[in-house]
Amino acid sequence: MIVPTRVLFEHAYGKYALGAYNINNLEQAMGLFRGCIDSQAPFIIQISKGARSYTDKRMLEAIIRTADEIFPEALFAVHLDHGDEQNCYDCIESGFYSSVMIDASHHPFQENVEITRRVVAAAHARGISVEAELGMLGGVEEDIQVDEKNANLTDPDEAYAFVKETGCDSLACAIGTSHGAYKFSGSQGIHFDRVSAIQAKLPGFPLVMHGSSSVPQEEVARINGAGGAMKGAKGVDANQYLPAAKLGVCKVNIDTDGRLVWTRVHREYFRDNPAEFDLRPPGKIFMAEYAKFIASRNEFLGSAGQLAAAKEHVLVK
Ligand code: G3H
Ligand code: 13P
Ligand code: ZN
Repeated sequence: MIVPTRVLFEHAYGKYALGAYNINNLEQAMGLFRGCIDSQAPFIIQISKGARSYTDKRMLEAIIRTADEIFPEALFAVHLDHGDEQNCYDCIESGFYSSVMIDASHHPFQENVEITRRVVAAAHARGISVEAELGMLGGVEEDIQVDEKNANLTDPDEAYAFVKETGCDSLACAIGTSHGAYKFSGSQGIHFDRVSAIQAKLPGFPLVMHGSSSVPQEEVARINGAGGAMKGAKGVDANQYLPAAKLGVCKVNIDTDGRLVWTRVHREYFRDNPAEFDLRPPGKIFMAEYAKFIASRNEFLGSAGQLAAAKEHVLVK
């Protein structure tokens, strides 16, 4: 069942975080739904601007509608990840999305406020909620390269002013993470002092953590053992998801980790079966492995086992 993102956040706030998982194809969708049912977790499925143009946006939307029929017990929200203003209007008009992300964080503060405010007005008129972003994550974000040393953590006072001025429903904050498989060169991690300071300014307000993949070292080793060359790949410690959730982080974005599972399965499969050319055998393995991976992430997030309680919460809303 597709439900408003806002209602899922209400249930999760301060207790656990929802995994927000990106999809680009049907195998990812099947693994994601299976893993969330197996772990009895509510979740957020998200489609990025890039994913919408990979084939045709209608293809992914149709996959999600069909997955909803195949897994009627699933409870989830559908979210546009890293949209520009036009993507947001497109998704708002379509009536299919529970929430959209307007990513205008690369603009100066006031411009970010103005763009976000326009999107909020359009979204709220249709009952859709809006995630906005303030601060810059390290690594690669959309088309912009930001040096990790210059990564700009979200300022708590600015976060307060931004939320009040825009009316956005959740805020993606730069708190030390970055997108992709190469997040940290040393022992860096989530800046909990910063999350805590933002929560103090915005108590009860849902925060979002991008760049949350854990880049499991076993996965990287297996990829490299099967012909890959991913030297120095490193992610967020998954044991830190729940402490972040307790500080108001309600949505934890995980995409890269799913790509790593895909790469490991396919590299190992074709290494071990060099004469094979059918896409279905590795596709089957991937769906099962991805389901297991998703269930394990939901355990770290604390969303595992919350499905029944979240459904009850949705019913009373
Ligand atoms: O934060 C970005 C997400 O991982 C989506 O990646 O833009 O390559 O689809 P993408
Ligand atoms: P990762 O690259 O860490 O998976 O982050 C994904 C993300 O933030 C999607 O918006
Ligand atoms: Zn992101």
